Amino acid sequence: MYIYFLEVLNLSIVKDSLLAHNGRLKIKWVQDYMPVLTKIGDEFAKSQIFAGLKIGMSIHMEAKTAYLALMLKGAGAEVYATGCNPLSTQDDVAAGLASMGVNVYAIRGVDNDEYFSHIKKVLSHEPDLLIDDGGDLYKAYSELSPEIREKWRPIGGCEETTTGINRLKMLQREAPLHFPMMNVNDAPCKHFYDNVYGTGQSVWTAIMDTTNTLVAGKTVVVAGYGYCGSGVAMRARGMGARVIVTEIDPVKALEASLDGFEVMPMDDAAYLGDYFVTVTGCKNVIRRRHFNCMKDNAFLANAGHFDVEINVKELGVISSDIKARRDNITGYTTNNKTLNLLASGRLVNLAAGQGHPAEIMDMSFALQAMGLKYLLDHKGQLEDKLYEIPEEVNERVARLKLEAMGIKIDTLTEEQREYLGR
Ligand code: NAI
Repeated sequence: MYIYFLEVLNLSIVKDSLLAHNGRLKIKWVQDYMPVLTKIGDEFAKSQIFAGLKIGMSIHMEAKTAYLALMLKGAGAEVYATGCNPLSTQDDVAAGLASMGVNVYAIRGVDNDEYFSHIKKVLSHEPDLLIDDGGDLYKAYSELSPEIREKWRPIGGCEETTTGINRLKMLQREAPLHFPMMNVNDAPCKHFYDNVYGTGQSVWTAIMDTTNTLVAGKTVVVAGYGYCGSGVAMRARGMGARVIVTEIDPVKALEASLDGFEVMPMDDAAYLGDYFVTVTGCKNVIRRRHFNCMKDNAFLANAGHFDVEINVKELGVISSDIKARRDNITGYTTNNKTLNLLASGRLVNLAAGQGHPAEIMDMSFALQAMGLKYLLDHKGQLEDKLYEIPEEVNERVARLKLEAMGIKIDTLTEEQREYLGR
C-alpha cells in the first residue's frame, strides 16, 4: 500500500516523504552539471520573471527535471509537477522536490488511471504555462469540458519530445491548437545532443546495469535510425557489438548503411539479435512473428516514448510462463526459449536507469526555460499553433554551453561576413 503524505504547505502526492533526503541529494548533485540552466535560472530569479504565474509540468520525474522545476520556482512561479510515464518516476526525487516547495503528484508504477489522475491534479490548478513531455498534459487539457476551457486558457506551453511534437503536428493539421506550443524538441541544441548522445549513452547504461551482460561481440538490433536510434547504434558499435539497423524510411536506411551498419527488415534481424532496442515512435515494431524466431535469452528493450513499440500483450499471449528474473527484467517463456523484456517495455533509460546525463539535459531544459520566456514576451501576439524555438535562443544556449566547457571558437571577420552575406 502506498504511503501518501499531504504536506502542510502543499498537497503533494508522493510515495514516501522519508525518501526526501535522498531525493534532495540527487537534485543537488545534478545542479553542478547544469551550468547553462543555472545561469539562465539566476537571470530569471533576479527579474522574478514568473512572479504570480503558475506553471504545470508533466515530465519524467527525476533529478534533472526536479532541478528545472526548482529553477522555475526560484523565478517566482508556483510549480505543479507530475511525471510523464508511470515507470520513470523516482520516488525519492518526487519526495525531495515536494519537500522543497514544489507541488508534486507522482508515484512510480501507478496504473494508467492513477497516472492520468495526477495529470488532472496538475491541471486542476489552472496553470498559466505548461511543460509537456510526450503530449499527455496537452491531451488531458483537450479533454476538459468546453466550459472549463473557455474559462481557463493557458498562455502557452513547451513540448519536449519527438512523440509529443508528432502528436501536436497531427492535431494542428485538423484544427488550431488550444494555445501556442513551443517546439523544444526540434531546436538543434535539443535533438542533436539529447536525442543522439543522451539516448545513445543512457540506453546502454540502463541495459548494461539491468542485465549485467557483455555487449562486446554480441549482435544488437536497433529499430529506427532517427536521432535517438543513430546514437544507440553508434554507442553499441563503440562497445564492440555487431549492429543491425531496421528502418522504414529509405533515406534513413541509406544513411545507416553508409554509416557502416547492416540494414535489413525486422523479419530477418529477429533471428540474429542478442539485444533489440526499439526507438521509432511507432507501434508494434516487434511483434508475434518476430518473437517466434528470436534466440533463447534475447533481450528486448524499448527507448521510444510510449510502451507500444514492443507488443508486450502478444508476447504474453504466446508465453507459457512469465516471471520476474531480476529487477526490471521479466522472462517470457515461449517455444522452449526465454525472451527477456526490460522495464516492461517502457523507455528503458528512464524506467530502468537515471535518464540522460545531466550535462545533456542542461541544454534541453535551458531551452524549455527560454521557451516559456518567449511565450511570456509574446503573450497575446501568438497564434494557436506550434512555434519553433528562435535561432538566436538556440545559439545562445550553444554559446553558454561552450563557455561552460571552456571551449572557444572563431568569429567571422568583417570581410568573411560580407563574403557569406551575413
Ligand atoms: P526520429 O523521427 O528522428 O526517428 C524515428 C525513426 O524511426 C525514423 O527514422 C523512422 O523512419 C523510423 N521508424 C518509424 N517507424 C518504424 C518502424 N516501424 N520500423 C523501423 N523504423 C521505423 O525520432 P527520434 O527523435 O529518434 O525519437 C524516437 C522516439 O524516441 C520518440 O518516441 C521520442 O519521443 C523518443 N525519445 C526518447 C528518448 C529517451 O530518453 N528514451 C529521448 C528522446 C526521444
